[in-house]
Amino acid sequence: MRRKLVAGNWKMHGSLTENEALLSGLLAGMGSVKAGVAVCVPFPYLAQAQAKLTGSSIAWGAQNVSQQVKGAFTGEVSASMLNDFACTYVIVGHSERRAIYGESDTLVAEKFAAAQAAGLTPILCVGESLEERESGITETVVARQMDAVIAKCGVASLAKSVVAYEPVWAIGTGKTASPEQAQAVHAFIRAKVRALDAAVAENLIIQYGGSMKAANAAELLGQPDIDGGLIGGAALVADEFLAICRAA
Ligand code: 13P
Repeated sequence: MRRKLVAGNWKMHGSLTENEALLSGLLAGMGSVKAGVAVCVPFPYLAQAQAKLTGSSIAWGAQNVSQQVKGAFTGEVSASMLNDFACTYVIVGHSERRAIYGESDTLVAEKFAAAQAAGLTPILCVGESLEERESGITETVVARQMDAVIAKCGVASLAKSVVAYEPVWAIGTGKTASPEQAQAVHAFIRAKVRALDAAVAENLIIQYGGSMKAANAAELLGQPDIDGGLIGGAALVADEFLAICRAA
């Protein structure tokens, strides 16, 4: 039985003061949460997250990682640096990184590999744009994104990862995929992995992301192949995020 995992992706939001209040609020409400919970914070706040969350049931992580181990790569942050702050997770291939910063499937696979080599659990984001959905190529796009990682790291590598299906058209738009739309893609992803390794597929946590909030979480999380959420905007409000965690 897969345990549900709800992760907050704070994106480029927060401040020391705001984070202090948000994390305190989350810690205070965790008593009633049975699902796994994590927050992926901006790099400068990893020390704060570590100090605040060590010993709690909330894990933490980052939103990006370099594919390089070390060296002259100005502005980059390595996986071993994330380990210095005891990160559990790191998001790789978020659609904002793919679209705004030009990250290719190949680069995302390299980041996935670098994260795993350092013992971090990558949260691999996949998902189609509105144009791609309307052209009927959602499965082709998601398969291509998955295949890049499988080709580089092997299907067994997915056992130590999380996949997040995030339809780009649902991110930050208030437009959520219907539970049926999301379930169909989640089932497709799991079937694709199952064709290569049934055990990996059964245990793979596949999160949904894209305007998930307290009001729609239970219905989405009730689908057989939706194993949690990767939450943007709603992760910045303690009560809202906790309500999603409880629904999970
Ligand atoms: P929203 O929940 O704000 O739509 O963002 C989803 C997301 O991109 C999480 O990674």
